[in-house]
Amino acid sequence: MQPEILRVELALADERATDTLAAAVAPHIRRGFVLFLSGDLGAGKTTFARAVLRALGHTGRVQSPTFTLVQSYNLSNFDLYHFDFYRFSSPEEWREAGFDEHLGDDAAAIVEWPELGAAGLPAPDVWLRLSPDEDAGAGEHARVATLSGATEWGRQCLIGVCDAVSIGLLAGVSLRGASLEPPSP
Ligand SMILES: Nc1ncnc2c1ncn2[C@@H]1O[C@H](COP(=O)(O)OP(=O)(O)OP(=O)(O)O)[C@@H](O)[C@H]1O
Ligand SMILES: [Mg+2]
Repeated sequence: MQPEILRVELALADERATDTLAAAVAPHIRRGFVLFLSGDLGAGKTTFARAVLRALGHTGRVQSPTFTLVQSYNLSNFDLYHFDFYRFSSPEEWREAGFDEHLGDDAAAIVEWPELGAAGLPAPDVWLRLSPDEDAGAGEHARVATLSGATEWGRQCLIGVCDAVSIGLLAGVSLRGASLEPPSP
């Protein structure tokens, strides 16, 4: 039987809150972990990835992979590949580029614009969607983060984030809702 999907919706007050959430997700990332980042242009996907890498101990520059398509990082315990599929025009293109070699059990992966490489991408442990917060009163830097965890690692990550939010450890991050849903057919 397919595992259930844990969905969590968070309000992020500002960019610092995005960084704080990324730092809470980062310790769950390990070899073989796949994180998808969705949202419109400028939603904050690269900002989130940069904060994840910083939290994982990377001290150098984190260039957006928008033009290079992939950036690789040699972290202390595993390698991490940061992809951006925005410029791919067909789902087969990334496979032809040989990128599927980097997506597997040997490394961790963060994927921006996963929708454009969807066919053939491994299922994510966590899928994070970022969007502007339309609520009256929310500032222009406020975002809504919707996270889905459909694997054991993913659910553990989201439970850890919810616990941290509920005891006030993540400044600027508040819980809007959480639900456990049946797996998609
Ligand atoms: N709450 C927030 N979270 C993330 N970024 C924010 C936030 N508020 C403002 N920003 C700003 O929004 C911009 C987000 O840019 P970023 O490159 O991270 O977007 P992106 O989603 O990766 O876009 P693209 O699809 O073009 O790759 C940055 O300039 C960042 O400083
Ligand atoms: Mg980006």
